[in-house]
Amino acid sequence: MRIPVLYGSMREGRKSEAVAKFVHAELLKRGIESEYVTSEPYRDREPLERKHPEPWKSIMESADGLIVVAPEYNHGYPGQLKEMIDALTIEYNYKPVGFVGAGGYSGGSRAVEQLRQVMIELRMVPIREALYFPMVWELLNDKGELKNPELFLPRLETFLKELFWYAEALKEGREKHPWSK
Ligand SMILES: Cc1cc2nc3c(=O)[nH]c(=O)nc-3n(C[C@H](O)[C@H](O)[C@H](O)COP(=O)(O)O)c2cc1C
Repeated sequence: MRIPVLYGSMREGRKSEAVAKFVHAELLKRGIESEYVTSEPYRDREPLERKHPEPWKSIMESADGLIVVAPEYNHGYPGQLKEMIDALTIEYNYKPVGFVGAGGYSGGSRAVEQLRQVMIELRMVPIREALYFPMVWELLNDKGELKNPELFLPRLETFLKELFWYAEALKEGREKHPWSK
């Protein structure tokens, strides 16, 4: 099973990257094939295609689903994340997407609600379960990593269980009943 993790924040010294890296590491631990796809903060910006060894298009083409990690900015998600999402279309179709939010009090939940609408337009299937990291800066140690990752593991299990279920069911669905308009 292949489930890339897409993460975007424009801020130098961005904090929610720890959350994205945590989720990515947990996927690898479970034997899931997964690329970590991100563009760099604004001042150190290079096109995604040059930064990543494999083009985003071919990663998503062969993916069985996607996890989007979104920090919340003014009740929305960063424009940079939208830019990365908008770079593709059919590669997303009829695959599940799970969301991880990070922020202040909201834990990124409002950014995630907006992303649900966007991903439906790309014919992705947004799953109900999600992971939220409120006051994300307080959850990190001096190295910028999660201080207590074990606190989040039970929620992560529930989230991944649902995502993997959809990934398998929709893969079978795409193979058995290819969609045509
Ligand atoms: C300009 C700005 C606006 C923000 N707006 C919100 C918000 O509406 N809701 C929220 O929960 N957190 C908000 N935050 C907190 C961010 O989600 C938090 O700082 C998070 O670490 C940002 O992700 P990043 O550090 O990975 O870029 C805001 C932060 C900034 C700098």
